[in-house]
Parts: sequence; C-alpha cells; structure tokens
Amino acid sequence: MPHSQNLKASQTMDLSKKEIIEYLQSDGEELFQLADGVRKENVGSEVHLRGLIEFSNHCKQNCLYCGIRRDNSSCKRYRLSEEEIITTAKEAVKEGFKTIVLQSGEDDGFTLEKMKRIIKEIKSLDTALTLSSGEKSLKTYEEYKHAGLDRFLLRIETTDKELYRKMHPDMSFENRLKSLERLKTAGLEVGTGCLVGLPGQTTESLAEDILFFKEINADMIGIGPFIPNPNTPLSDVPAGSLKLALKVMALTRLVLPKSNIPATTAMEALNKNGRIIALRSGANVIMPNLTDYNFKKAYELYPNKPLTKDSIKAQRQKLSEMLAKIGRTISIDYGSRA
Ligand code: 5AD
Repeated sequence: MPHSQNLKASQTMDLSKKEIIEYLQSDGEELFQLADGVRKENVGSEVHLRGLIEFSNHCKQNCLYCGIRRDNSSCKRYRLSEEEIITTAKEAVKEGFKTIVLQSGEDDGFTLEKMKRIIKEIKSLDTALTLSSGEKSLKTYEEYKHAGLDRFLLRIETTDKELYRKMHPDMSFENRLKSLERLKTAGLEVGTGCLVGLPGQTTESLAEDILFFKEINADMIGIGPFIPNPNTPLSDVPAGSLKLALKVMALTRLVLPKSNIPATTAMEALNKNGRIIALRSGANVIMPNLTDYNFKKAYELYPNKPLTKDSIKAQRQKLSEMLAKIGRTISIDYGSRA
C-alpha cells in the first residue's frame, strides 16, 4: 500500500492521483482503519447530527439518475408551507439538534423573499442552518448569507465533464463550478460531493473527484453510491458499490482531515449498517431525516430510502444508543468546520 505504514494519523496526506487510484483498487481494509484514525485525531469522537427537512420535491432540472427529475410524472410533488418547515425546525431545536438542513429540488416556487423569511425565522432559534437547493446567482447566495444562512450543500456529482454533460441535460459543468465559487464568495461554508457508480464513471475520475474536494478545500463532503430509480432513464443501470463509495469517502478524510463528512443515507439504503460502517471509516456526521413521513416518502431520489416513522425525539434517542455502542457521542455544538 502507498506509504501508509509510515504515516501518522495526524499528518495531512498529500496523496497523488496514482496513490489514490491504488487505494481505490485495494480491498480497503487498511484504508478504512487509517481514515478512522485520521478522523479521530482531527475531529474527535463526537458525531454531529444535522436535522434534515426535505421541503419541496419540485425540480426544474432533469438529472438522469434522480427520482425527482422534472420528467418523472409518477413523482407526487409537494411543497411544505413556511409554517410546516418552521414547526419542524423548532421541534428539532427543542430536541437538541444544533444544525438544521433544508433540502429541496430546484424549485422557483421558493422565491428569494420566501427563503429569506424562512432563514430568518429558523436563525432566530439556537441553531446553525444549511440550505441545499441548487444553483443560484451570487446575489441570491449573498442574500441568503445576509439573512443568516451558515452553510450550503451543492454536490459537483462528478468532475468528469463528459459524464457530467450526459447525466445533466440542459445543465453546464461550468455553471456548477461557478456556483461553488459563488458560495465561497458569499462567505458560506461550502459542501460538495459526488455519486459513486454512475454509468461510465472510471476509477481515475473518482480520484479526480477526491482531488477536486481538496482543491476547493470543501468544508463538507457528501459521498454516496448511485442507486437506480425505476422511474428514471437509468433504471437498468446496476447500483454503485457501497465498498467503493466508502473508499472514496475514506480517501476524502485523508486529504481533508478536518472537514465534516456524513455517513450518507444512500449508504444506509444499500446496507442497514451502512451508517455505522461509514462512521468507522472516516465519517463524523449523520443527517437524520426529520421530514414528516408522508412527505419524505415522496422525496424519493432513489428506492429503498430508509424511512422511519419515529418522532424526532425517538430518532435522536436511538442514534444516541447506536453511537454509544461504537464509542461515539452526539455533539452538542454547532459543528462548523474545525
Ligand atoms: N442514487 C443516489 N444518490 C442520488 N442522488 C440523486 N439521485 C440519486 C440516486 N439515484 C443524490 C445526488 C444529490 C443528492 C441530494 O442526492 O448526488 O446531490
């Protein structure tokens, strides 16, 4: 294995593309241990919970892999009211969540004025706030920031330009990059990430994705396996490998030791222990889905999405027990990048 024997967990690893590819082709066992050590050394044993609210599944984009794509007429569309969003956020904060994440499709129904009202209301509570609602102008990101927003998630999905073009009709890779730059300019903490197992994706391009996260110095990185959705053009494409997604995640921990990296829901969708495995392979964040059951069911990016009917309180309690078993605790701070 590339020089891992000589590396102390605290050292930042400047891995070359060649070394990354070697790790991606390895069985991963050594890599997972190494990433777990780097995680512990740099961000500790506390796990940040981010309470997720999926507030609209309307989307003007048509990403080939995604279940809420514009052309999926079998998707039951919904928009939460401002009141529903805020009520859920309030309950989460009351139960001790220190970050709320609002996620939606690219829905112009949530105008700038409406989003600003929601941001201000939630930021009057004791919580950090993350938004994940797609590509916007610099002015919009700046206004979000001004209203109190802390962070924004926008996955690059893949850094392979040709693959990006195929997967995202009518979208532009350049605008994706520019949007990530705009987020930085606006002063928001920036999250990005990729899908693992897209059709035609190469190991080399995954290595480039990892180097890209490092290059833009991403504060948060979400990585998940591609899972085919029967109501999309990629219905017959085999799912991505959980193991490979975990390797991409673990390598991301090595190159960005202090970043926040979630055990993603797509990992859990492929294996019921996916979150625990991820937390022991470099991850330090979990994003419990706090959306009302009937709505989160309709927010179906991919099938087999884990759907609990547990209350917010019960979810937190169960996670706390699960974490205790692996020697981890729930963080009580906002979990900004260290
Ligand atoms: N499988 C796995 N992840 C998906 N996403 C969208 N569709 C799928 C799918 N079929 C991911 C995208 C997006 C995030 C919110 O969900 O990477 O950025």
